[in-house]
Amino acid sequence: MKIGNRIKVFAPATVANVACGFDVLGFAIDKPGDELIMELTSEKGVVIVDIEGDGGVLPRDAKKNSATVAIQDYLNYINADFGCKIWLKKMMPSGSGLGSSAASAVAGVFAINMLCNEQLTKEEMLPFLLNAEKAACDAAIADNVAASLFGGFILVRSYEPLDILQIPVPEDLWCAVINPHVIVLTKDAREILPKDIPLAHSLRQSANVGGIMVGLLRGDYDLIGRSLVDYIAEPYRSKLIPGFYEMKQAAKDAGALGGSISGSGPSVFALCHGKENAYKAGDAMKQVMNSMNIGADVYVSKVNNQGPKVLPFGE
Ligand code: HSE
Repeated sequence: MKIGNRIKVFAPATVANVACGFDVLGFAIDKPGDELIMELTSEKGVVIVDIEGDGGVLPRDAKKNSATVAIQDYLNYINADFGCKIWLKKMMPSGSGLGSSAASAVAGVFAINMLCNEQLTKEEMLPFLLNAEKAACDAAIADNVAASLFGGFILVRSYEPLDILQIPVPEDLWCAVINPHVIVLTKDAREILPKDIPLAHSLRQSANVGGIMVGLLRGDYDLIGRSLVDYIAEPYRSKLIPGFYEMKQAAKDAGALGGSISGSGPSVFALCHGKENAYKAGDAMKQVMNSMNIGADVYVSKVNNQGPKVLPFGE
C-alpha cells in the first residue's frame, strides 16, 4: 500500500429478515447503496472528512460511525502504522430498514482492504462489521452486513460461531422496495418485540425458513411467496409503518409473490416473479403512500449478486 493512494467504492443496500428469517435472512439489492472515497494517510487513525446526504444526523466521531468503526478494526487487526481519511456519500437515510449503517461499514472495509492489497478475506472482515452494527444500532446482527458484503441471498445459520451460507437465487426473482419517508430506528424497532414467542409461532416461522430455502433452490416462485410469512416481528413493527398492510396487499394484488417489512422498517419489500410484476408492485405500494400524503422512494432490482464494487472516479 502507498500513502496517498485513493479509491472510490459502492456497497449495496439490503433487505434483512425477508419475512420469515428474523435476524438470519437477507439479500442485497442494486439500488440504493452508499459510496465512499478513501485516501491512505501517514497518520494513524481514521478521519471523516465529509458525509453527504445524511442531513447531518450521522456521527462524525470516528468512534461512533459504523464505517469508521469497521475500518479502525481492520487497521488494528493488520497492525497498520498508517491511517486513512474518508468521504461518505449516503444514498439512503438511517432508520430506513435498508441496511444503511451496514452499507457504510461494508463500503469502508471493502475500500481499506482494496487499498491494502486484499490482505483479508470477506469472512475475516465480518467481525469488524458486526462490531460496527453494534456501534450503530446497539445489536451485532449479521443479516444486513453479510448480504451487503457477499452479495446475493444469505442465511446466517449460526452466530456463534458465525456461519454464513449463500443461497442461489432463481434467475427471474425481482424485488420492489418502497422507502416511506418515515424514520424507524432499529434500536426502537427491536425494543417493541416481545422477548419470548409462543412455540406454535416458532414452528411456523422455522417451517417457512425451510420453505423459502427450498423455493429458492428449486426456483419455485409460488413456494417462495407462500413462505413469506412473519410471526415474530411484522405483527408488532407494522404498527410503526403507516399503510403497511395496505401496501402489502396492493403489491400482492399487482402480482407480487408476497412481501413484508424490510429489516426493521419502515421500508417494505415485495418479491416478484419477473421485472414487470416488480415494477407494478412498486407502483401499487407508491400509490398507497400517495393516497396517505406520505413521500416515498421506490427501488426495483434483481437480487444484487455482486456486493461491493470499485467505482471509477468522476462517476
Ligand atoms: N434483523 C434486524 C432487525 C435488522 O430486524 O432488527 C437489522 O440488521
